Amino acid sequence: MRFKYVAGKYSCVTQTQTQLIDGTEVAASIRSDLISSVNRITNTGTTPQLATVLMNDDPASQTYVSMKHDDCEEVGIETRDITIDPEAPAAELFDTVDELNTDPSIHGILVQMPLPDHVDEREVLRRIDPKKDVDGFHPENVGRLVAGQPRYKPCTPHGIQKLLIAADIETEGADAVVIGRSNIVGKPMANLLIQKADAGNATVTLCHSRTNDLASKTREADIVIAAAGVPEMIDGDMLSAGTVVIDVGINRVETETGSELVGDVEFESAAEKADAITPVPGGVGPMTRAMLLWNTVKATAITTDVSVELP
Ligand SMILES: NC(=O)c1ccc[n+]([C@@H]2O[C@H](COP(=O)([O-])OP(=O)(O)OC[C@H]3O[C@@H](n4cnc5c(N)ncnc54)[C@H](OP(=O)(O)O)[C@@H]3O)[C@@H](O)[C@H]2O)c1
Repeated sequence: MRFKYVAGKYSCVTQTQTQLIDGTEVAASIRSDLISSVNRITNTGTTPQLATVLMNDDPASQTYVSMKHDDCEEVGIETRDITIDPEAPAAELFDTVDELNTDPSIHGILVQMPLPDHVDEREVLRRIDPKKDVDGFHPENVGRLVAGQPRYKPCTPHGIQKLLIAADIETEGADAVVIGRSNIVGKPMANLLIQKADAGNATVTLCHSRTNDLASKTREADIVIAAAGVPEMIDGDMLSAGTVVIDVGINRVETETGSELVGDVEFESAAEKADAITPVPGGVGPMTRAMLLWNTVKATAITTDVSVELP
């Protein structure tokens, strides 16, 4: 099986069985379905609204926030854009979160990370009303997820579950290796995969930078989910034939002509071995964005007691 990167996307250039899991397409379908969910809520007199709070000068964070606003607009979710001077005292951010918590027109709150050093990230996450915590990072929501009663699943692992379902990947009984133990990707991903639920019932090995002989783990896996933030660290030699490979990594690397985005997986050699694989870009990234919209619609239903079907 061979893939070629042409005009911004990978194309299969030989006839083989390998499935390219297209996150752009699945995310577009979820957004399209969410428009109906939003319309149903809006018809009851409530318009879903997401508040974003940005407290840093990082251009990448500004871009992420503006992309989130564009995504919301596309499906009919209103947004409130709050920026706080990074030099301001932490209390200003806490007061803002308190106001958003009690504002009935705001259904979801997202505080863009990173925060300045003088602001305790954990304190901010604890401060957000767990019913408006569309990132799913509040300890109450983390606990619910671990206990198997998720309220909001964090967007990236939730998006990966949706991708696995859309691509018809069987997780029940599968040996899954998750590489990375961050609170936003690796840990919730492992927790979701072990649950007695759709896209769950897997046997999970959670690997990290202190894991001995990572290749021996990945070679045993039916599903490899790479979320380490190390460019192209997983190559075909580390995989067995027939593996499903989900590449979460987004790494900017220098090239002779400038720079490009690559994943944590060396695509060409991994695709030679894989049964199914996500590209970077166009795999997990669009799903993360779509699931923020999904969580915001769910948050509107939860905070207003409006019942709505979600895709
Ligand atoms: N596609 C998306 O929508 C999306 C969303 C979020 C993140 N990302 C990307 O996903 C990647 C991971 O993000 P993150 O926020 O989870 O990163 P993170 O907080 O830096 O965590 C990285 C994890 O990978 C582990 N790790 C690092 N090097 C390793 C190695 N050589 N072998 C095995 N494990 C290793 C670390 O282990 P230790 O715990 O031992 O340090 C850590 O647990 C990044 O490239 C990020 O940009 C993409």
